[in-house]
Amino acid sequence: MANRVVIGSQWGDEGKAKVVDFLTLDADYIVRFQGGANAGHTVEVGDKKFVFHLIPSGIMHDDKICVIGNGVVLDPVQTLAEIADLHTKGINPEGRLFIADNAHVVLPYHSTLDKAKEKKAGKGAIGTTGRGIGPCYSDKVNRIGVRVGDLMDERELRPRVEAMAKVHNEEFKVMYDVPEIDPEQVIKDYLELGQKIKPFVRDVSAMLYAAVKAGKRLVFEGAQGTILDVDQGTYPFVTSSNTVAGYASCGAGIGPTAIDQVVGVVKAYTTRVGNGPFPTELLDETGDTLRKIGNEYGATTGRNRRCGWFDAPVVRKAAVVNGLTHLAITKLDVLDTFDTIKICTHYECDGEKIENFPNQLSKVGRCVPVYEEMPGWKCDTTKCRKLEELPENARKYLNRMAELVGVKIGMISIGAKRDQSIIVDLD
Ligand code: GDP
Ligand code: IMO
Ligand code: MG
Repeated sequence: MANRVVIGSQWGDEGKAKVVDFLTLDADYIVRFQGGANAGHTVEVGDKKFVFHLIPSGIMHDDKICVIGNGVVLDPVQTLAEIADLHTKGINPEGRLFIADNAHVVLPYHSTLDKAKEKKAGKGAIGTTGRGIGPCYSDKVNRIGVRVGDLMDERELRPRVEAMAKVHNEEFKVMYDVPEIDPEQVIKDYLELGQKIKPFVRDVSAMLYAAVKAGKRLVFEGAQGTILDVDQGTYPFVTSSNTVAGYASCGAGIGPTAIDQVVGVVKAYTTRVGNGPFPTELLDETGDTLRKIGNEYGATTGRNRRCGWFDAPVVRKAAVVNGLTHLAITKLDVLDTFDTIKICTHYECDGEKIENFPNQLSKVGRCVPVYEEMPGWKCDTTKCRKLEELPENARKYLNRMAELVGVKIGMISIGAKRDQSIIVDLD
């Protein structure tokens, strides 16, 4: 099997975790490479349901190794809570979960600041998850962050926390009504947390290099989605990391030559959580129906997900910026009861035909989707296990999606459970 990067092709929540869990059957290592606890990745196996925020979705397979790479921003409190939750469900990550010592640490003031900035932004708020992701990545790039390895040694941690507190406390005084950072408290608490996560901490880059050399098979698990990428998305209504496939290499500390395939996970329709433009959004009964049948409520924040029809320009952009080799189309079953289904083939904007999702926010806002209508299939697909078993109209819909995007379909998902998957062509 090839080493695969699995990324979201829309605005997140495409069902990446379901696809990663399924592809893990064929893999040895599962690697998160960006984002943090803003992710909400749901895996259902048998009667058990897990929502992971930081731990890779492959952890359910007890013979696989899971890695949190340097590109992730790690909240140690959240990580320990997820580990404890796994224990209660009979899963032991000890000895097979590894965290990069050079990943950055999300500290409590990051989420305080995240929420304070959102409040201050008022109508211009991004609608973040409030998990401190933006402020933590800002500190990283600003070179005042704290890294996982620093938590193991006061000689590393103390100067970093003191420097960071100095910068932020001055900023807080002028800009935000938030409590000052007490560096002594942060040092005490995070040295303690450091001891708790120490058994998991490694130089994961060296570990993955050795794995690749030994012919082990890797799955890189993306978080968020392409149109939330800080460079490629609807900036500034984006997350603060690069979510695209190319970042798997940077965020895992492994060269791009280790990657063979890029699987773009695509929901059979479109959703978005948080603010920002969404051309095919349905603010009517059909949107409510999609939300209800698709159970489109945020796995991290519980917010309603905004729903709309499949948007080809969005996924075309994902094909381009990720170099997609395969599509994994999820939640096809959610469309089972619709009489007709619409597909946005392109947009019209300022009298022009637009095939590719624009980079300018105001232009995205002016784009009017142009739809094609296809007949529904009006039957249950959740028990289908082969492409031939799907109703003809469902196959036509899938083929049209692939044709519009210009990428072949690798797999199809027709339910949240591991076995509700159809392999089409994953070679
Ligand atoms: P992720 O963030 O991309 O991993 O996706 P989420 O876990 O946030 O949201 C996807 C939701 O859809 C979860 O509740 C999954 O259990 C569920 N899901 C995944 N694939 C399918 C599918 O093919 N059909 C249905 N009905 N649900 C699915
Ligand atoms: P998964 O991995 C959907 C959205 C937030 C907000 C914007 C910025 O489950 O697909 P942030 O907290 O990252 O600064 O918020 O990004 N967002 C997501 N939307 N799925 C996610 O992750 C998301 N992670 C962040 O709603 O609009
Ligand atoms: Mg999610």
